[in-house]
Amino acid sequence: MPQVIAPSYDPLDPEVIANPYPLFDALRTSTPVFWHEGMRSWCLTRYADCVQVLRDHKTFARDRRRAGDTVAGPSLSVQSLDPPDQTPVRHLFMNALRAQDLSHIETRAHELTRNLLAKLSSQPSFDVMPEIAMPVAVDAVSGLLGVAPPRIESFAEISDAIMRSMDAGLDPSTAEPGRIARVALTKLVDSWLNVDSQGLLGDVVRNSKGWPDQELTYIRNTIRVMFQGGYSTVTAAIGNVLHTLMTHPEGLELFRNGAPLETGVDELIRYDGPVQGTSRIAMSPCMIGGQQLSSGDMVVALFAAANHDPDQFDKPAVLDLLRSPNQHLGYGWGTHSCIGTTAAQATLRGLVGALADHPASLHSAGPAVRRRTATMRLFATLPAALSA
Ligand code: HEM
Repeated sequence: MPQVIAPSYDPLDPEVIANPYPLFDALRTSTPVFWHEGMRSWCLTRYADCVQVLRDHKTFARDRRRAGDTVAGPSLSVQSLDPPDQTPVRHLFMNALRAQDLSHIETRAHELTRNLLAKLSSQPSFDVMPEIAMPVAVDAVSGLLGVAPPRIESFAEISDAIMRSMDAGLDPSTAEPGRIARVALTKLVDSWLNVDSQGLLGDVVRNSKGWPDQELTYIRNTIRVMFQGGYSTVTAAIGNVLHTLMTHPEGLELFRNGAPLETGVDELIRYDGPVQGTSRIAMSPCMIGGQQLSSGDMVVALFAAANHDPDQFDKPAVLDLLRSPNQHLGYGWGTHSCIGTTAAQATLRGLVGALADHPASLHSAGPAVRRRTATMRLFATLPAALSA
C-alpha cells in the first residue's frame, strides 16, 4: 500500500473548484508526488515530474490494453492508443492540420466574435458561455474540420455527457450517459464521411484511402474525439480566458496597446487552462520525484499544478501576457499532446483580438459559477456586460 497520502486533495471540493492553485502550491511543497486513494493514482504536481511521465510513452502507457485491461472498440482512437499503433493515425491528422489555413481560422473567430459583441452590447447583461463561448467554439471546430456546424442545443448535450464521463473514475454514474452520447456522436460523424468532405476531414478521408479496416476504425473514432474534444476544450478555454481578462482589466488594455496576441493567448492558457490533468499507467517499476512506483500503478500528471510550478515559471501566480518562453503543459506534452493546438491558438487570437478591438470593455455582471467537474475546468455560467 503506498505511503505518501495527501488526504486533503478533493478535486470536486467547491473550494478547489473555485481556485485550485493555492492547494496545488501547498501540495507541491509538502508532498509533490502523492497517492490519491479516490483516484487510485499517484498525483504529480511538479512540472519536471509531469514532463518525465509525458515524454516517456514506453514506461508510461496511455493504452490500457498494455496493462491487460480491455478497451471497447469505439474508444480506440489517437487518444487511447500508444505508438506504434497510434503513430500513423496521429501523423495523418497532424499532416491534415498543417495543411489548413490558420489565418482563416483566426479571421473567422474574429469576425464571429465581433458580430456577437455588437449584438450583445445592446443587452444589459448576458451569460458568456451560451452567448460567446459555445457558438465560437462550435464554429471554429466545424470550420476546421470542414463540416456544417450541428445544431448547438442538441450537440452541446451530447458533448456535455462525454465531457462529464472523463470523471468516471471519481463519479462512475457519468460512464453510461457518456457511452450513449458517443454512439449518437458516431452517427453524426458517419453522416459527414458519406459526403464529399472539405477541410481537415476531407484531407484525412482522401489520405487514408485503402488503409486497413482496423486503422479506418481508429480514424473514425479520432474524428469524433477531434470534434467533441475540440469543441468542449475550446468552449471551456474561452470561458476561462474571458473570465481572466475580466478579472485583469489591465490585460485587455495591454492588447489594445499592441501586446502580441501570440504570447498573450498562450499565457492565458497557462494561467487558467481548461484541461486539469491526464493519466498514464507505469509499465515497469520506476522512480518519480524520489517516489518509488510499481508496475501497474496509475499516475495523474496535474497540468494545472505543473503550470504554476515556480521551478519552471518565474512568478507563476502573475498573469504575464508577454511571458516568453512559455512551455506550459496546457496543451499536454509528447506523443499525446494536443493535435488541435495551433487551431485553438488561432481561435483564441481571433476571439481576444475582436474583444480588444471592441469599443466597450467586458466586465463581470454577477457571480460566476464553475461546473463541478474535475478533468475539465470550466464555467457553468459567466455573467458579463459590455460598457465603456
Ligand atoms: C484551448 C483549447 C484546447 C486545449 C487547452 C487542449 C488541450 C489538450 C490537452 C492538454 C491534450 C492532451 C491530453 C493528454 O495528454 O491526455 C489534448 C489532446 C488532444 N486534443 Fe486538444 N485542446 C484544445 C483544443 C483542441 C482542438 C480545437 C482540437 C481539434 C479540433 C483538439 C484535439 C485534440 C486531440 C485529438 C487530442 C488527443 C491527442 C492524442 O492523444 O494524441 N484539441 N488537448
